[in-house]
Order: sequence, then structure tokens, then C-alpha cells
Amino acid sequence: MSSYSFENRVVIVTGAGNGLGRSHALEFARRGAKVVVNDLGGSGRGEGESKSVSDRVVEEIRGAGGTAVANADSVEQGDKIVQCALDNFGRVDVVVNNAGILRDSSFQKMTDEDWSLILRVHLTGSYSVTHAAWPYMRAQGYGRVLMTSSGAGIYGNFGQANYSAAKLGLHGLAQTLAIEGGPRGIQVNTIAPIAASRLTETVMPPAMLAGLNPDLVTPLAVYLCSENCAESGQIFEVGGGWVTRLRWEQSRGALFDADTRFDVEALAARWQEVQSFEGAMHPDGIGNTLQIVGEHLGIDMEIAPQ
Ligand code: NAI
Repeated sequence: MSSYSFENRVVIVTGAGNGLGRSHALEFARRGAKVVVNDLGGSGRGEGESKSVSDRVVEEIRGAGGTAVANADSVEQGDKIVQCALDNFGRVDVVVNNAGILRDSSFQKMTDEDWSLILRVHLTGSYSVTHAAWPYMRAQGYGRVLMTSSGAGIYGNFGQANYSAAKLGLHGLAQTLAIEGGPRGIQVNTIAPIAASRLTETVMPPAMLAGLNPDLVTPLAVYLCSENCAESGQIFEVGGGWVTRLRWEQSRGALFDADTRFDVEALAARWQEVQSFEGAMHPDGIGNTLQIVGEHLGIDMEIAPQ
């Protein structure tokens, strides 16, 4: 058995009817997983629905000798999607949160509906499916969860205020779930992909799309969801054959004594120290900052885990 086999594993891939999700689902199935192919089957703007979209990918998987079941619920109803995994395959080992839509517009023109629908599908949808799977993963002492973020969330992108907020929110969620899930064998990571799909075909020129096959993202998704992977709480950019990890960088900053006057003038005088990345640090938890502030103030800032 290959060490990247998913034999006896049950994998839910949301939004698996097209693009990246379809590519992930086919590959997990090829590696022996029993796959729940979830897809609401609506438009790229989140209008309408159709069962035929998930059915088509299930047919592809079965045609290649794999095992899969179609599910056409919205990710907002995560309990139904997880129930589908339990009813058909008896367990759930992996959740790949991938479903997504776009409602792009400049912030000035953004409607409340554009804002809330994007938050609901991306952020609440990923919460909903993961939350429904969580108790089963905890009970079996094993789970892998993947969030699908975006460069728009990490860096910002004109016309995508709603999407950016949801997409970086997903990584915040992933980081906390990595902390909470770690002791129970649950690992949670985030990818920010770039790929040709119906979501990008209208914004990227054909020559660019030609190099960005979704299949070039899937190996990272599979790796992060494998038994072998030790990563958790990490975020990676991936696409067009490039895989790279991101991390936070923190300047050494400026420490101001409590007994000297700390006002905006004092801050401005030392602005260079605040923003210089010379000798930068790479904090990997909330404790790093608390430790520095604690040492500065002479106070024990350690917070006991709940
Ligand atoms: P896609 O449109 O080909 O696939 C998304 C799938 O999600 C569709 O099949 C759609 O029907 C499904 N879906 C939408 N709303 C759903 C809901 N409420 N419940 C269940 N399924 C639903 O798009 P693509 O590009 O494959 O996107 C996959 C993910 O990757 C999305 O989360 C997207 O935001 C993200 N992403 C894609 C990038 C790219 O370059 N293609 C860049 C950054 C992020």
C-alpha cells in the first residue's frame, strides 16, 4: 500500500462538481478513499442548484473503479453532508472545505446580500461542515481538515471585500481548530490556490489560464489530508506548479517604559523601530507576544489552556 493511500478513509470534498474540488475528489478516490462528492450545482454567483453536477463527478469516479456518493446540499447545511458520509460509509476522516462562489463588486457598490452570501457560503459553510464532522473526528482520534483560502484574503484584491474577509477568516478558524484538534489527532491546514476554473476564466487571460490546471493544486490538498502529514495550522499558496508556505513576520518593535510618557509623539520618534524588519521574529502562537510584553512589564503572562 502506498503511504499516500486513502484506503478505508472517508473523504468529504465540498464543491466537488467543478474545478479544484472535482480534481481533489478524483484524486482521493484514485487513492482508495470513499468520497462524498458534495456540490450544490448553482452558478458561480450562487444562483440556482442542480444535482447533476455532483452526479457527473461520481459517475467519473465510479467509471474509474472508485467509490463515491453524490450530495447536493449546500455547505450551509453541513450536518446533512456529514450525515451522507455516515449513512453511506459509516465514518468521516477528511473534510476538504472547497465550495465557493463570487459576488465581486467595489466596496462602494457592495450590497448587504453580496456581503452576507459570500460570508455564508465560504466561512459559515466551512464552519458548518467541519463542526458537524468534528465530534466524529474527536471520538475516533483522527481527522484532517482543509480550508480553501485565497490570495485575495491574504493580500486584498480590488472588488473582493466580502470574499477577502471570508477567505482570511477561514485561516483564523483553521489556526484555532489546529490548536483545539491537535490533542485529538485532528490536523487543520489552509491552502490559497490559484487555478483555471469558472471562477477565474472571466478575470484571467487564456494564456494564463492554460498554465493553471487545477490538478497542479491537488497534490498539496492530498498531502495535507494524508496520515503522513505532520503539519497543522499552516497556510500554503499553491498553483501552476509552485507550492509555498507563508508565515507571520513580526518586527522587533519598540518597547516603551511605563514610567515615561507614552504618547503619539514618543511613538512617532521611534517609528523606525516599529516598522523595521531587521532581525524580525516569526511568532507561531499568541504566547510569543504575551511573553515579550510580560518580560517588559515584569508580569507572568502565561495563560493556562482551558
Ligand atoms: P468552481 O466554481 O469551479 O468550483 C466551486 C464549486 O463550489 C462549484 O461546483 C459550485 O457549484 C460549488 N458550490 C458553490 N456554492 C456551494 C454551496 N453553497 N454548497 C455546495 N457547493 C457549492 O471554482 P474553483 O475555482 O474550483 O473554486 C474552488 C475553491 O477555491 C473556492 O472556494 C474558491 O474561492 C477557491 N479559490 C479558487 C481560486 C482559483 O484561482 N480558482 C483562487 C483562490 C481561491
